[in-house]
Amino acid sequence: TRRVFSGIQPTADSFHLGNYLGAVRQWVDLQESRETIYCVVDLHAITVPYDPQVLRRRTRIAAAQLFASGLDPERCILFVQSQVPEHAELNWVLGCLTGFGEANRMTQFKDKSAKGGADSASVGLFTYPILQAADILLYQADEVPVGEDQRQHLELSRNLAQRFNHRFGETFTVPAPYILPAVSKITDLQDPTSKMSKSSSSPQGIIDLLDEPAAIRKKINRAVTDAESVVRADDEAKPGVTNLLRIYAALSGEKIDDIAARYGDGGYGGFKKDLGNLVADTFGPIRERTAKHLADTDALDALLEDGARRARAIATATMAQVRDRCGFPAVN
Ligand code: TYM
Repeated sequence: TRRVFSGIQPTADSFHLGNYLGAVRQWVDLQESRETIYCVVDLHAITVPYDPQVLRRRTRIAAAQLFASGLDPERCILFVQSQVPEHAELNWVLGCLTGFGEANRMTQFKDKSAKGGADSASVGLFTYPILQAADILLYQADEVPVGEDQRQHLELSRNLAQRFNHRFGETFTVPAPYILPAVSKITDLQDPTSKMSKSSSSPQGIIDLLDEPAAIRKKINRAVTDAESVVRADDEAKPGVTNLLRIYAALSGEKIDDIAARYGDGGYGGFKKDLGNLVADTFGPIRERTAKHLADTDALDALLEDGARRARAIATATMAQVRDRCGFPAVN
């Protein structure tokens, strides 16, 4: 069976609709057909200034949401990145294989450091994609389910795997992105040409997985549309409505054309009302299950420790091979 790896950052008190549709839902589905390994990437979360207490809380909230969304510890491995020290170790080796110019071409660093300028950004933020490559390559993953914004990082992971294999002998599986175009770029409800994002969107533009049903309905009602009043998909002329149609189709399983035909020129009110209910009904049970997991942090921590133990068995085997290939003595 093909092996899947993916990661998500614990950088907010809730995941948002973009994370859910672009990644988490595929993580859940892939448990059926693949060997699946998923990671809450807390080491990536410290690339920007942060508070350790907040990080500790958000790491648990992230894991709780993932279990609540349908990750099943019997069918996948879910663990916290910092509990498997091999990630940091492989990061160093891969960093020594990455060109400075190559790292400098990663566009997400430019976007994320844009505010304060590159001088005040951390070196960790700059080398972030190399740690991401280490995450993936440690587990010899065949496929990596992510949203469109991660495509360039996956290209770096592929290049680093090939480069290592070429210089030191076949060691790593070269991973392929697993990106579903229909859901790979969910946009901001208030600014529908930009992706929905925890860092750049306004609260009204983001639907959080843990939002109350009333808040979800309100945000969808107020989503930016256009003056045409016809429900139809058109990325250029109607980015807001098209984004809502994508969300509707993804959550209902219907085709965009069928949804558009049903609402047609009846205005946006009924369409938004039904979509608000659809999102609220999907997220409601997840919110309740998340709260249950968070009410028993001992049980949650125990699940994560077990996940880390199983992940580490794979990671240490890869690192033993890497150390040998690199000319390092074995670690016993
Ligand atoms: P992160 O935590 O920013 O996002 C988690 C996942 O959600 C996807 N996503 C979206 N998909 C569609 N529409 C959107 N608006 C949207 N916003 C976010 C992301 O593409 C991602 O799949 N660097 C990664 C975390 C990571 C990782 C890894 C991923 C670390 N190591 C190894 C894969 C493999 C990140 O910051 O994702």
